[in-house]
Amino acid sequence: MSQIKSIGVLTSGGDAPGMNAGLRAVTRTAICNGMKVFAIYRGYKGLISDEVVEFKTQDVSNIIQRGGTILKTARCPEFATPEGRKQAYDTIVKHQIDALVVLGGDGTFTGAKAFAEEYNMPVVGLPCTIDNDLCGTDFTIGYDTALNTVIECVDRIRDTASSHERLFFVEVMGRDAGFLALNAAIAAGAEAAVIPEEEIKKEVLEEVVGNGFRKTKNSSIVLVAESDVTGGAKGIAEAARKLHPEYDVREVILGHIQRGGTPSAQDRILASRMGVAAIEALLEGQRNIMVGIMNDEIVYVPFSRAIKDDKPINKRLFNALRTLSI
Ligand code: F6P
Repeated sequence: MSQIKSIGVLTSGGDAPGMNAGLRAVTRTAICNGMKVFAIYRGYKGLISDEVVEFKTQDVSNIIQRGGTILKTARCPEFATPEGRKQAYDTIVKHQIDALVVLGGDGTFTGAKAFAEEYNMPVVGLPCTIDNDLCGTDFTIGYDTALNTVIECVDRIRDTASSHERLFFVEVMGRDAGFLALNAAIAAGAEAAVIPEEEIKKEVLEEVVGNGFRKTKNSSIVLVAESDVTGGAKGIAEAARKLHPEYDVREVILGHIQRGGTPSAQDRILASRMGVAAIEALLEGQRNIMVGIMNDEIVYVPFSRAIKDDKPINKRLFNALRTLSI
């Protein structure tokens, strides 16, 4: 018989499509296993300020298809301090919460790890971020939807790029990770991707602007990952204008459009599987782990590994893009 009689659940950091599907799965699996579920609003902020409501199964009805998070979310610098975490723990004690399930990205898990260690609290995480930048999981919840949103936008930009014979630099999110940019470039048939993992700024410009563009094509689209390393779409567009003043260059920053929208089937299924697995992990006595997916199998990954900054980009994809964009 599990020691865990009640759980708290929260969403934190940048929202991601599929968070609601994850919340639904966590809530219903916990209730199915005789646990009480306390929903915590506004992430760690709400844990500190006691924004806690007990959820029944009907509280998560009709949310699987909704983007964003019905629990709201926040980034919470207070939780990075021992004082903030102490206040959060007071809320846990007040509601007699035995374990936490947190849905978020690396900031969320960094906080979860500190809290779990300080208060000997079982915490399980669901990887939710459009960036797909967490180690130990092939995919994060929200990434597939964002990728589809990006390619839909790029398809539209392609129409106008080709009509005006222009070179477009399209900036996508990723917070220093190039997964969205690289995969969107392949899926949208873009000419190149500029990502922080590959130091190729100058060469890409020469290759794309100098060769690909005008040689075989009269319009080009380059996906650029947001990051100080890449300089973003603005920085690269400026460099391209200098290099080739004769070309008609435009930049587009897709921004938060990428984070919204109804989750894809893949994200809903992933979130549902991971939500079930999070409660199963707690029942098995697991703690301080993130639920991941590797080769279509659920895996459990220690927070310390999930937040390590070294998830590699698949170099083969990068080479494939080069080949396909001639
Ligand atoms: O981590 C998710 C993410 O969307 C990043 O891709 C982006 O850099 C960041 O969040 C934007 O954060 P905010 O919504 O707080 O501006």
